[in-house]
Amino acid sequence: MHLNALASRLQNIAPFHVMELSKMAAALEQQGRHIIHMGIGEPDFTAVPAVVAAATEAMSAGKMQYTSATGLPELREAISAHYQRVYGLNISPSRIVVTAGASAALLLACAALVEPGSEILMPDPSYPCNRHFVAAFEGRARLIESGPEDRFQLSPEMVEQYWSEATRGVLLASPSNPTGTSILPAQLQKIVELVRSKQGFTIVDEIYQGLSYEGAPFSALSLGEDLIVINSFSKYFNMTGWRLGWLVLPEVLVPQVEKLAQNLLICASSIAQHAALACFHPDSIALYEQRKAEFKRRRDYIVPQLQRLGFKVPVVPDGAFYVYADCSDISDDADALTIDMLNKVGVVLVPGLDFGPSTARRYIRLSYATSMENLQEAVARIERYLAQR
Ligand SMILES: Cc1ncc(COP(=O)(O)O)c(C=O)c1O
Repeated sequence: MHLNALASRLQNIAPFHVMELSKMAAALEQQGRHIIHMGIGEPDFTAVPAVVAAATEAMSAGKMQYTSATGLPELREAISAHYQRVYGLNISPSRIVVTAGASAALLLACAALVEPGSEILMPDPSYPCNRHFVAAFEGRARLIESGPEDRFQLSPEMVEQYWSEATRGVLLASPSNPTGTSILPAQLQKIVELVRSKQGFTIVDEIYQGLSYEGAPFSALSLGEDLIVINSFSKYFNMTGWRLGWLVLPEVLVPQVEKLAQNLLICASSIAQHAALACFHPDSIALYEQRKAEFKRRRDYIVPQLQRLGFKVPVVPDGAFYVYADCSDISDDADALTIDMLNKVGVVLVPGLDFGPSTARRYIRLSYATSMENLQEAVARIERYLAQR
């Protein structure tokens, strides 16, 4: 096929470097090298036993056909009950749309809200796919440089300053990927009010919700019924490959998103939906909470170790399972550093490159979603690498 046949929007979509590094790591593993993976953002824990049993049961019972586009009613109810139990929020199941991961939730939200040529504000650094979802619908992600003083999140002042004629809304992730830092509720509230006054939309990606190690449980949904909130079973519920997530929408958007979901996706995996019902059993929640405590233990180990090795961690991450560390005292090229480290000592870290231009060369992201033993071994390897340079 001639390349001229390709849609021009592809030019606005960059490859995901994390995946490229993983490919390089896989090639080294094929040669027999032992690699410690701290690249891809995926829990090392997998679905809890009750979820696996529920999936098996669903398959045996033949519960494998399409569900409605908005998801199984009982799963929407279970998600609603989860908001009530953990966050004290009354979210009607009718506002919840079950999707194939946060990715499909973002796709549907962007399909519904992004007008060609319009601008969506988001922080730099941030999760790269978010800006590519906007690009896929021919909008422009306006990346606003944000540093440690703003916890790498947007501030109300930034939103005010960068809002233009073309701006339609803001897209935030809290806790954030790659930084593991959350936006302060009071700051978010001011942003929501500002955006509301401009008749725009606020999308908050809460995919790392549940993996917050400080403060009281919080959801942006407490700030009003006009927010669009993205969530997923991938992270807290450890179900990455099951492809299951959800959207919470303002009531008026539900029929619009439902019609998009019917056409673009039909539904999320029915087996995964039946299985996910078991996530909310008290025994499953107890196990997820134990795993969360283990993530916190790892964070508390790795942050001081990185600092000891010469990385700077200007804001201690309060959630997710990432540390975004400034490596400028070690190298002036984070990309070259991560490739060299992979080749020499078999440790996969991700350069800032994926997450936006402002920190591309100075920062690396480390995912501590790996065992404590692996983290300890990685620290020893990085120390050896730095001593040998
Ligand atoms: C901030 C953020 N949003 C969305 C996603 C997509 O996750 P999924 O589609 O597995 O739910 C990820 C995955 O890493 C993420 O970090």
